[in-house]
Amino acid sequence: MEKQNLDWGNLGFGYVKTDKRYVSNFKDGAWDNGTLTDDATVQISECAGVLQYAQTCFEGLKAYTTEKGKIVTFRPDMNAERMATTCERLEMPVFPKDRFIDAVKQVVKANASWVPPYGSGATLYLRPYMFGSSPVIGVKPAQEYQFRIFGTPVGPYFKGGAHPLTVRISDLDRAAPKGTGDIKAGLNYAMSLHNIVDAHKCGFDENMYLDPQTHTYIEETGGANILFVTKDGKIVTPKSDSILPSITRRSLVSVAKDYLGIEVTERKINKEELADFAECGLCGTAAVISPIGKIVDHGKEICLPSGMNDFGPVLKKVYDTLTGMQMGRIEAPAGWIYEID
Ligand code: PLP
Ligand code: COI
Repeated sequence: MEKQNLDWGNLGFGYVKTDKRYVSNFKDGAWDNGTLTDDATVQISECAGVLQYAQTCFEGLKAYTTEKGKIVTFRPDMNAERMATTCERLEMPVFPKDRFIDAVKQVVKANASWVPPYGSGATLYLRPYMFGSSPVIGVKPAQEYQFRIFGTPVGPYFKGGAHPLTVRISDLDRAAPKGTGDIKAGLNYAMSLHNIVDAHKCGFDENMYLDPQTHTYIEETGGANILFVTKDGKIVTPKSDSILPSITRRSLVSVAKDYLGIEVTERKINKEELADFAECGLCGTAAVISPIGKIVDHGKEICLPSGMNDFGPVLKKVYDTLTGMQMGRIEAPAGWIYEID
């Protein structure tokens, strides 16, 4: 199959229209059969639930070309499960897991020419999403929904690839105690937009959020979980009910424990502990692992010993192992890799 003529090595994290996307509609209490379409536009009521009351959620996963030239996706079952949890919380209908996985496969297969080649550093980012499409004017869930998946070829989420980031401790919250921080609702991202624009204006790459109840413990950033490494080489990651359960983080934790014999603890992390760590990084589908070199807490600079030039050694090892699995260089645990035939 002929690949698209793109400069794969220089792609940013942006939208590129690909050939086919998947659409299924929910009406009268049931999902239709779903289909692939060329039409990249959405037509809905001016009063649709998504437009009036932000009834929308999404997922993110990637398709990779392996060393042997096969196209694979990584743990799409986990995205299906997390989307189901999100939908239940937002009073949206669940799109069945087997159909979600099948739709992912259909979209990747139909856009195989857009899956970046092995070694290019790029991947095909897949965006499953769902929204309330029928009119609602009183505050209540819509009756009709649309589930879609498109793919777009992407490079690194942060400009400069693995160049360590500078983040600030945020004054604003992305989540509320007992709110929606642990689901992938569009509203969580809408409310982070002002803060990320402001962070960029102030010269920071990201906001590091604190727990919304006490503003004492580290949570996550607007689009990724956080991993820390202690000075004796152990991984520590925040435990909280208001962070998104990252599939990348959960995979990295397994890889660290089971493949690399690294001790991993999930616990509350007080912001006063930041100066004690040796390494820090963001993790997520888009970010993979992006090292953090500096954390700024209201003028106080915390410079990670791993520095501003590269990954620290522990995060580099877990990064290499996970990406090795995704690219087919290292055998992954059973059930993690889904081949597209
Ligand atoms: N946290 C937030 C707020 C996110 O938006 C994401 C992205 O999906 C993540 C964490 C990372 O999750 P995952 O590894 O499942 O992509
Ligand atoms: C992802 O990593 O898939 C995300 O959703 C993060 C961001 C692009 C919102």
